[in-house]
Amino acid sequence: MKKVFSIFTAVLISASAFAQSDPNLGIIPAPVSVTKANGTFILDKTTVLVNQSIDGSKMTDLLNAFIVTKAGFALRETKTPQPNQKAIVLTSVGADQLPAEGYTIKVTPKQIVLTGKGAGLFYAVQSAMQMMPDKVADKITIPAVNINDYPRFSYRGTMLDVGRHFFPVSFIKKYIDQLAYYKINTFHWHLTEDQGWRLEIKKYPKLTQIGSVRNGTIIGNYPGNGNYLTPVKGFYTQDEAKEVVRYAAEKYITVIPEIELPGHASAAIASYPELSCFPDRDTFISDKTPWAGSRKGKQVQQTWGVFDDIFVPSANTFTFLENVLDEVMAIFPSKYIHIGGDEAPKTYWKESAFCQNLMKEKGLKDEHELQSYFIQTIEKYMNSKGRSIIGWDEILEGGLAPNATVMSWRGEDGGIAAAQQKHDVIMTPGSMGLYIDHKQSNSPDEPVTIGGFAPYQKIYAYDPVPKVLTAEERKYIKGVQANLWTEYIKTTAKAENHAFPRLLALAEIAWSPVERKDLKNFSEQRLPVHLARLDKMGINFWVPTPIGQSDKPLTGGDFTIDLKAPVTGAKIYYTIDLARPSESAFLYTAPFKITVPQGEKRVLKTIVIAPSGRRSVTAETVLNNGAPEVKADAKK
Ligand code: ACM
Repeated sequence: MKKVFSIFTAVLISASAFAQSDPNLGIIPAPVSVTKANGTFILDKTTVLVNQSIDGSKMTDLLNAFIVTKAGFALRETKTPQPNQKAIVLTSVGADQLPAEGYTIKVTPKQIVLTGKGAGLFYAVQSAMQMMPDKVADKITIPAVNINDYPRFSYRGTMLDVGRHFFPVSFIKKYIDQLAYYKINTFHWHLTEDQGWRLEIKKYPKLTQIGSVRNGTIIGNYPGNGNYLTPVKGFYTQDEAKEVVRYAAEKYITVIPEIELPGHASAAIASYPELSCFPDRDTFISDKTPWAGSRKGKQVQQTWGVFDDIFVPSANTFTFLENVLDEVMAIFPSKYIHIGGDEAPKTYWKESAFCQNLMKEKGLKDEHELQSYFIQTIEKYMNSKGRSIIGWDEILEGGLAPNATVMSWRGEDGGIAAAQQKHDVIMTPGSMGLYIDHKQSNSPDEPVTIGGFAPYQKIYAYDPVPKVLTAEERKYIKGVQANLWTEYIKTTAKAENHAFPRLLALAEIAWSPVERKDLKNFSEQRLPVHLARLDKMGINFWVPTPIGQSDKPLTGGDFTIDLKAPVTGAKIYYTIDLARPSESAFLYTAPFKITVPQGEKRVLKTIVIAPSGRRSVTAETVLNNGAPEVKADAKK
């Protein structure tokens, strides 16, 4: 280990060095095409900013604000540059010929021209910001290039569950900023749950007076080891929700609200028990919990899972839901309203004389058809108001509502079936890594999660268009989404840790053509720069383990350990004496050799510490040179 290390190799690679050698110029998601040209554009104080777009000064202001932070000076804005004046031009001329949300960027030594309109021009500005290297002596040198870019999917979404835990508007806005930066255009806001109703509804004040408060939550993983009795509460006023819609729209993000029905409705039922088949029935708490049994009256649920108490399909319930949805539609102008539809147990409907009579009267052969009747009734109402519904894939059961879009979460089967029935589909299969509440590594250092395994590489590997579909059916796959359920996510920092870098991988599979996917370039060239940016901005993220470290045991006698920091500017510390690495371990500065004697093994343990102090989990690689196997029972 006694080696003089050069501190500047491997670890401290500047953002611009990455950008220069990176075929994607540091842009996430990777553009459709990037063609290098000759020369460079040198941005300095003499450069002017020219607005010839149809979008007012919004985009130039955005770019200029960024240039101030990057260069330390603002560019002078003008409509008409002098001939031969170095300029950044934002224009909509020719934008009508571009695909929806598309843009081009042309960099020559004289000009940078960003072409697009609306979302397209906004995305051109995001890409321009991402490809801009750091300044050197008050100049920013940008390589000449032609970029042509547009999205693979029109729906690029992410869902945030605010029912299990409530997150303030300030956080929602901070989150939306990052979605926009990565060209994600849909924020699916899961507003109602068994554990909390989070949106003010003026006609039904008890929804938030009662439904937005639960009096406790299990501690640790389900079924928990106790029930802490601190209330969890919070809701958005209609004005706050409107402000989120306005803020998102400024960044070309559509907010799709979700109002869950007929299941996951305990909070609504606790507020208005007549929405249940059995208004007088007490709440049943799962017998797996430490406080199992029945509780007097209806409850906002304090534990996780699926609950039998669901909406009764009565005229009163439909009136309630229509009134609620009227207020929802007045807040959210989105074409789509998500109506849930998942995990609705049929137990109460089976036991209810009212439901059984209704089924006879309507000629419905089972409770799945009753669920379909429920969804179709709501769909008809929404369609009559000019809106369309999205539902989780259970809405296929008992017959799909005629115009519904299906969100496929239980694998891809629901999405495949829906596309075959000529229905639009959003792919969000938990089994393919799109459930970003799942854990990001198998390390015991991971925080408490719901389980599962969804490292960002798994999302990156996913193609939302199933191969079994015909060319015609594939057109119904409108996009892809990642879901952040928050049973085990109480804090905004933890929400961010779950979201990043996985949302960056999502952005790439949602936007970039399949043939542009390149995990090595993504992980090793672009991601480190983007994570360093998040680090600097005070946005939490999951710090990846060192690039180049095997997560599988290696066999042999001589090993060269050649690592790279997964976050630009981060440090890697390591041990080979089984100790847990920290700042007091060896600092990795350059590749080194480890020799393991015959019949022995070593364990390389590393930790990455980002400039802010954020840490990775400990990563371990066993280096084995024929060490005898330790039998499981020998450990006892
Ligand atoms: C879901 O995860 N229940 C849609």
